[in-house]
Amino acid sequence: MSVTSQCRICDGTVKEFIDFGRQPLSDAFVVPGDEKGEFFFRLATGICDSCTMVQLMEEVPRDLMFHDAYPYLSSGSAFMRTHFNELAKRLLTTELTGEDPFIVELGCNDGIMLKAMAEAGVRQLGVEPSGSVADLAAAKGIRVRKDFFEEATAADIRETDGPADVIYAANTLCHIPYMDSILKGVTTLLGPNGVFVFEDPYLGDIVERTSFDQIYDEHFFFFTARSVQEMAKRNGLELVDVERIPVHGGEVRYTLALAGARQPTEAVAELLAWEAERKLAEYATLERFATNVKKIKDDLIALLTKLRAEGKRVVGYGATAKSATVTNFCGITPDLVEFISDTTPAKQNRLSPGQHIPVREPKEFAADYPDYALLFAWNHADEIMNAEQAFRDAGGQWILYVPNVHVS
Ligand code: SAM
Ligand code: TMP
Ligand code: ZN
Repeated sequence: MSVTSQCRICDGTVKEFIDFGRQPLSDAFVVPGDEKGEFFFRLATGICDSCTMVQLMEEVPRDLMFHDAYPYLSSGSAFMRTHFNELAKRLLTTELTGEDPFIVELGCNDGIMLKAMAEAGVRQLGVEPSGSVADLAAAKGIRVRKDFFEEATAADIRETDGPADVIYAANTLCHIPYMDSILKGVTTLLGPNGVFVFEDPYLGDIVERTSFDQIYDEHFFFFTARSVQEMAKRNGLELVDVERIPVHGGEVRYTLALAGARQPTEAVAELLAWEAERKLAEYATLERFATNVKKIKDDLIALLTKLRAEGKRVVGYGATAKSATVTNFCGITPDLVEFISDTTPAKQNRLSPGQHIPVREPKEFAADYPDYALLFAWNHADEIMNAEQAFRDAGGQWILYVPNVHVS
């Protein structure tokens, strides 16, 4: 019997294709001694039989994930800082050229993108519910509203600031199950020729690369051009542009405008055709993905168990939210991975969610290189491997598990 749930976008039925079982909150790093109070939920994904949106089967209450102790810092990657600066430069010369333009960013985090807007003197507002990171953005001179964006927030902003030329969200829209309220808010706040631009992990890349660790509590939706087009249509909006971008393991940047306001680019039709050819919306494709995920799980545990038997030391690199799915689904315990090295202060000296692997500062990694580093932050592989050349020079090797388990 198949497991189903109600679609968060339309009236359709979501049919489950993969179940990761009981999982903790991916960004809830545990203070040693507090292991007992952890929250768990069933992590599983399915596809809607009507609008084709891939989504989680169970929703985690937003206040449990986004709060004053939310640890993720966007500015932790130099590559991502450049990525957002380039986007800001582009928006400044295309969409934000009118008189007194206004940009609103949902989930501005520590201000990685809006900093360039503040420096350019463009009227800006970040809407960010996680107090810890919102304060960091404010300290950079950015106007921040500590709030969840939703319909009421949007109406309030429109009242005080007027219409927005650009509403932007990176790695945030896919975090929000209450899409109806968000898109109503977008249509309320957007000026007549404004655009809603958002970028999120792309289902096409997730399936092609078997990057199953993109699935965790905070990632509720897994977009495609087709599902976003459907979602836009239902809310008086239109998908007018798409761009594949090489960040976080493969994302798409979608541009929506008010229905009829802009002519869709050829890129939209091209990506829709690519998705149809790959049969991305077909259940059988996603069942194959689930089979590939199980192989990665078996191969990774077999490799780590073999290395332990040989007396090799393995350390994790990057205590990513993604790594919660890997460690808890595969059963990676502290006797297989000694600790995880991470630059984020709020994660250090805590334990990884669920499996309780200690998280330590990068200087502990450098002080005594292990034989192998398991790269949980594989989406930052080029940046990290360049910075850690000394580890390789000392004979260290990287273990990767996307698109398959291999040592490099
Ligand atoms: N934009 C940054 C980036 O790409 O690195 C941050 C992405 S972070 C993974 C997601 C952010 O979305 C968090 O800082 C979280 O607090 C914020 N968020 C979650 N729900 C939100 C909502 N309803 N409105 C605005 N921000 C939200
Ligand atoms: P992300 O994949 O969600 O961006 O998370 C990356 C994590 O890896 C974050 O906790 C910071 C950490 N990190 C390092 O420890 N060293 C690095 O060089 C980079 C780029 C990230
Ligand atoms: Zn649906």
